[in-house]
Amino acid sequence: MLYFNFISFGIGCLAISTSCQSATRASTGNDVVCTVKEWFGGKAEMVGNMDKGDHSVKQSMTMYYYSALKEKLIALPFFKYKKLIYDYPGGALYTIMYDNLGFHSNCTKSPLSGRFPEVCTPANSLVTVDPHTSFGAGSYVTYGWEVRSVSGSTTHHVTMSDNLLPMFEEVSGTVDGAPFFHAAYYFNTTRVSFSADTFKLPALCLSA
Ligand SMILES: *[C@@H]1O[C@H](CO)[C@@H](O)[C@H](O)[C@H]1NC(C)=O
Ligand SMILES: *[C@@H]1O[C@H](CO)[C@@H](O)[C@H](O)[C@H]1NC(C)=O
Repeated sequence: MLYFNFISFGIGCLAISTSCQSATRASTGNDVVCTVKEWFGGKAEMVGNMDKGDHSVKQSMTMYYYSALKEKLIALPFFKYKKLIYDYPGGALYTIMYDNLGFHSNCTKSPLSGRFPEVCTPANSLVTVDPHTSFGAGSYVTYGWEVRSVSGSTTHHVTMSDNLLPMFEEVSGTVDGAPFFHAAYYFNTTRVSFSADTFKLPALCLSA
């Protein structure tokens, strides 16, 4: 269930989730290229599913703090009054919920298994857009490239900037015969060096 891994990580097709990792190891095509180890930025996603004649489309926006060095991730979904702290070395996901005024909050801890979902291009991909292509408008130009790969019944289409920040991703195909699509774009992504404080758990999570 390739696709649902992506969704539960919330970080999308670029992410090498468990089922992608084995593909990576077997890669014979282009080298897998991963983003810089630490960045933050927003991600807007649209996901569509069709199942037994029912279809649904979901949209979301999330701010991410991503550290492949510390193997930690913070997700801040827009308008949801919550913060998720993924601590892979500690094997725990902390969910902090706020009320809409910010007065009451609580923190729950749940087990987190698997490896840190490093954000990389898919395995066995073909470059479909030249690495020196400019994206953007006017003076707001970023250079980047696109790759495409097909794995089973799923097609991945991924765009990354030349300085290794994620830009766009599209995944489509079928899962157990049910068609789906997943489109995402990243915005305001910025490479950083996080201090240890970035991923420090708030006091209310320490007893969680
Ligand atoms: C946690 O806080 C949120 C927001 O105040 C509230 O809706 C929720 O019921 C709380 N959960 C628990 C387990 O206290
Ligand atoms: C966009 O990124 C810059 C750093 O490049 C940061 O200072 C700013 O807060 C970010 N803006 C938003 C809306 O996240």
